[in-house]
Amino acid sequence: MEQYIIKGGVPLTGDVTIGGAKNAALAILAASVMTDDTVVIENLPDVNDTKVLLNAMESVGVLVKHEDRHTVHINAAQIHSVTIHTEYIKKIRASYYMLGALLGKYNEACVALPGGCNIGMRPIDQHIKGFQALGAEVNLERGMITAKAEKLHAAHIYLDVVTVGATINLMMAACLAEGRTIIENAAKEPHVVDLANFLSSMGANIKGAGTDVIRINGVERLHGTEYSIIPDQIEAGSFMLCGAATGGDITVNNVIPKHLESISAKLRETGCEIIESDDAVRVKAPDRLRHTHVKTLPYPGFPTDMQPQIVAALGLADGTSIVTESIFENRFRYVPELLKMGANINIEGGTAIIEGVRGYSGADLSAPDLRAGAALVIAGLAAPDITTIDSINYIERGYEDFPEKLKHLGARIRKIDAEKEETRAHLLAV
Ligand code: EPZ
Repeated sequence: MEQYIIKGGVPLTGDVTIGGAKNAALAILAASVMTDDTVVIENLPDVNDTKVLLNAMESVGVLVKHEDRHTVHINAAQIHSVTIHTEYIKKIRASYYMLGALLGKYNEACVALPGGCNIGMRPIDQHIKGFQALGAEVNLERGMITAKAEKLHAAHIYLDVVTVGATINLMMAACLAEGRTIIENAAKEPHVVDLANFLSSMGANIKGAGTDVIRINGVERLHGTEYSIIPDQIEAGSFMLCGAATGGDITVNNVIPKHLESISAKLRETGCEIIESDDAVRVKAPDRLRHTHVKTLPYPGFPTDMQPQIVAALGLADGTSIVTESIFENRFRYVPELLKMGANINIEGGTAIIEGVRGYSGADLSAPDLRAGAALVIAGLAAPDITTIDSINYIERGYEDFPEKLKHLGARIRKIDAEKEETRAHLLAV
């Protein structure tokens, strides 16, 4: 069993470079099968989620060639099946982007139903409603969703909730549907815009991505392209919080500061100095953070994917902070782990009431999901004694070289195989 072992209490300082955005990569990889030409994708994060999606694509005949760790060549001319099996969808929900991509290209797709996920119910009714509006018949049978059309046609789709996944799936399918599709109440997240830019570079005609109305004029075919993925907003934000929680001074490089504004604004409220340049953000933290209130919202609001990390930091702030989760109903599952470290947090419905404590003490923890895992790492970095975190496979779904990047900032962190290595003291000998 692999674990992170952390001896915290060191203010993190220095520079860190952010990789490509995981959630943009998942959408872009899926969309790359929509042409028979070769597509080259650069700045691809080397994380478990992108590996699983590439495996799912290979399982239906997509050719994947790695030029280097962060560049892949994809050719989908020889796809032999439009069915993506459960083994992939069980591992990553985003395999369901193959529905929109394959339906758009072949008028037919069959993908296993995304299973119960551990941050909330996560229904897919808006995806289904949108595919139906585009002329597809959608059936759910034996755990598989099949979407099939004689020919896709344009539609005017009003999403009942702002959903990243449905906006992405429908945008892909609509690219090759006849006529002009309008998606209203669309998600505006940076990765929605990145996918639209990628599809446009393949010849799609998309206007309005990044606003809540996206207009897509269907085209006959898409062609090959070379495309570099945007930097990861959430990886960047997570490192900013590592700096904030440890009283550090970190410069986060290769970012789009605009994407980080909601996080920068909150950190300023807690007393951090934030210095932005063209492609970097520096966080200079005070000795102790001040309390603040946060509510998660769709972009440009404060991201739900940063909620656990900011709670871990506010757990150490002076005063009472209130953090409200408005996107996913089950995203406080890491709080009992923080309580083991001495945090004083009460959950009432979708709200965490946080009485800041002076310090955390190390504990043996388990990551309940990806961002929650990152929050536990942040808490461990702030605790002066030893913290162990298991179930780090969740963390590695979305963070490339997390321990190495943290070590470069001065953190004492190691990834170990708990069954092989001996004692903690030995492991942490520096
Ligand atoms: C994406 O998930 C991200 N995943 C999540 O990141 C992120 O937390 C989330 O967007 C919100 O920003 C990827 O991009 C791969 P949604 P997604 O559809 O698309 C409801 C991470 O840590 N809804 O925007 O699944 C839903 O229940 C992950 O990197 C419906 O009601 O999220 C939720 O309350 C975790 N019906 C809200 O919409 C639907 O048909 C937003 O969900 C679809 C969604």
